[in-house]
Amino acid sequence: MKVFSLVVAIVMANYVFAQHHIIPAPSSYLASSGNFIPNEKTIILVDGPCIDEANLLADLLKSQTGKNFLVDDGTLNPGNNYILLQCQEKAKSIPDLPGDIEKRINTKPAGAYQMKIFPDRIILSAKDREGIFYGIMTIKQIILNPTNLKKPHQDIGLPCAAIRDEPVFPHRGLLLDCCRHFMSKEFILKYVDLLALYKMNVFHWHLTEDQGWRIQIDKYPLLTEVGAWRREGDGTTYGGFYTKSDIREIVAYAQSRHITVIPEIEMPGHSLAAIAAYPTLGCTGEQVHVENNWGVFKDIYCAGDEESFVFLTDVLAEVCDLFPSPFIHIGGDEAPKFRWEQCERCQRRIKELGLANEAELQTYFIERIAAFLATKGKKIIGWDEILEGGIPADAIIQSWRGMEGGMRAALEGHGVVMSPTSHCYFDYGLESTDLREVYEFDPVPAGLTALQQTNILGGECNMWTEHAPQELVDSKVFPRMLAISEVLWTYPQDRNYDEFYNRVKTHFDILDDLGVQYGFPVVPVNVIQNHSGQEAIQVKVKGAFEGVEVRAAVFPAIGEIPQSDLVALSTVDSFTINSPSQLVVKTSFRGKEYPGLIRRYYSPHSAMAGKVELAEPFSPYYPAGGNNALADGFLGSDNFRDGFWQGLSGKEMKVTVDMGKTIDVTTISSRFFHYGNAWIFRPNLVIFEISRDGVEWKNVGTVHANSDEKSSGEFVVPYELKVSPQKARFIRMTAKNYGLNPDWHDAPGEPTWLFCDELVVK
Ligand code: ACM
Ligand code: ZN
Repeated sequence: MKVFSLVVAIVMANYVFAQHHIIPAPSSYLASSGNFIPNEKTIILVDGPCIDEANLLADLLKSQTGKNFLVDDGTLNPGNNYILLQCQEKAKSIPDLPGDIEKRINTKPAGAYQMKIFPDRIILSAKDREGIFYGIMTIKQIILNPTNLKKPHQDIGLPCAAIRDEPVFPHRGLLLDCCRHFMSKEFILKYVDLLALYKMNVFHWHLTEDQGWRIQIDKYPLLTEVGAWRREGDGTTYGGFYTKSDIREIVAYAQSRHITVIPEIEMPGHSLAAIAAYPTLGCTGEQVHVENNWGVFKDIYCAGDEESFVFLTDVLAEVCDLFPSPFIHIGGDEAPKFRWEQCERCQRRIKELGLANEAELQTYFIERIAAFLATKGKKIIGWDEILEGGIPADAIIQSWRGMEGGMRAALEGHGVVMSPTSHCYFDYGLESTDLREVYEFDPVPAGLTALQQTNILGGECNMWTEHAPQELVDSKVFPRMLAISEVLWTYPQDRNYDEFYNRVKTHFDILDDLGVQYGFPVVPVNVIQNHSGQEAIQVKVKGAFEGVEVRAAVFPAIGEIPQSDLVALSTVDSFTINSPSQLVVKTSFRGKEYPGLIRRYYSPHSAMAGKVELAEPFSPYYPAGGNNALADGFLGSDNFRDGFWQGLSGKEMKVTVDMGKTIDVTTISSRFFHYGNAWIFRPNLVIFEISRDGVEWKNVGTVHANSDEKSSGEFVVPYELKVSPQKARFIRMTAKNYGLNPDWHDAPGEPTWLFCDELVVK
């Protein structure tokens, strides 16, 4: 291959900085005139150990052109139309952690490549096979460009350009929860291809959970005979699992696309399905069932019983045989310590080992597992909770409860994968995490030295599936995964959302062509609502981005609207609201309907635009619009994360409103959210007081909760007090916090939340 390894010095005229649509954006892209058009004589020439990649390229070109392409390692005369893949493979560059300082700062992740596209040839060169592969993925995105797709196959053209490209982070992942809902093997293979197309390299496969055990383990057949199946509320059975043969196929398919499959075997919590199969793994030994609710549950593996460790090391030995990944994810999140506190064996273990508490018992648990995995040559990754009692030196932390755990781990010298709920939770709706939000994610927290920054290995987007069966997953992952792919590959170039979104528009066509049922990029409408201090609310509805079609109507109701009334939705976009009402908005985009209806709830009243004083500040996570949110006339929905519920943890809620004028008060009411599983409890009672001057107060009544505290599910609880007309300018509401999670709860003893949407005065 001498002839090809010469540096070809070509002066290319007419270089322009061109538009391209590649995601993630390459480091540099310089366009020139002309196109490379593959024809029946095009040969793929291989220089270096990248024959597998060359074959993938031949398959790709064949699928798009219908032609067969010759792959050759140096015996053929290339003629005048060829694609040369030059790979000078060197040792893998992902540094060991903590490792040699100089080396770590100076090494770059695998995957860099250069590609020159001329009218008669393409030269793709890289130092590693990953680089060749990513160059091919760039070719694939160019071929999938809709202007190519619309042509007859043989006319596919690749615009001439010089591309330099390299990833910033070595760990670029997607977590897919196949437990809450089961995903077919074919679906996972499709996701492997989609990950590869966007130059992601980690498939984090969440395989065990309270609601289902999904991986075949020969030594413990009941895990899949019992643990893979749950009885749903309606009496039907739901489940499934992956056989070893399925798993080997997926792992090999991923490997050929330079994707590491990291299996997650959860411990000590999120393990009800395993305990249902083998009840003696739990502290009580009692039979439990594979869970059919969502939440956090108190039955976890017993840490005082050797049987748990025999079981888990047996399971992990089989897991290590299946997955070549150097990392095994052991979970470690959300493990309530209630059972361990009550368990004789766990308590005996704490005493014998001289441990301070149950957090240290979890550390003992994780360290034993990590030591076993080390004998198999594997390191552990765990959720940030495992930091709580100390962790093994080479453990990697995946930070989900914000960035703080990751920050702490990076300071301590651990490798870190960032996936904070604020930017990376794709199970969340667009109201909390839209495309722009994901795009603005920065995985490197401020305050780390250059060396500590190298501990940030990258990030993952997390697709939890409590509310997403397989057919909804595309709509949650896309297009948001495009943003995370650019964050993890192209960072820290100056990123510009508008420029990125221009490229995303082309990818909507590409994703259509690939059969991906992507969702909307952002909440499709802006609802602009204000009351200007009057007792009416003005509402304006506007499409939030190009291509959205909007229809809306206002109904005089807060509850469900009969389906037949929804035909009243029209293109009217401005409303004046004088009484309790519901705005309903329906939108569509590229032939897709936004899931469900967008609803806003209003209750205009006399205290709107009053001045609100809060005895305790609200949580920064649930501000509901800030200080005056409890007197703005806007109510919350049946989703406590909708941005209209104000939340406060562990404290009572005392709210005073100065209406600015004295009125005859006849009704004072409020609403609280209840969702025991999420630690949100309605108050047992609410006290209402009124005052004319803000100094002398009169208690006008106490309203007790009209719902059972143990009620499962999530719902809104109203508190209403009617009084004979009384003059007042000031209103005060005191809502008692329910207190700690009760004993029957799955996280007993933890502080609970109060969520309120409005203090309505009439
Ligand atoms: C998690 O979301 N519990 C890691
Ligand atoms: Zn125990």
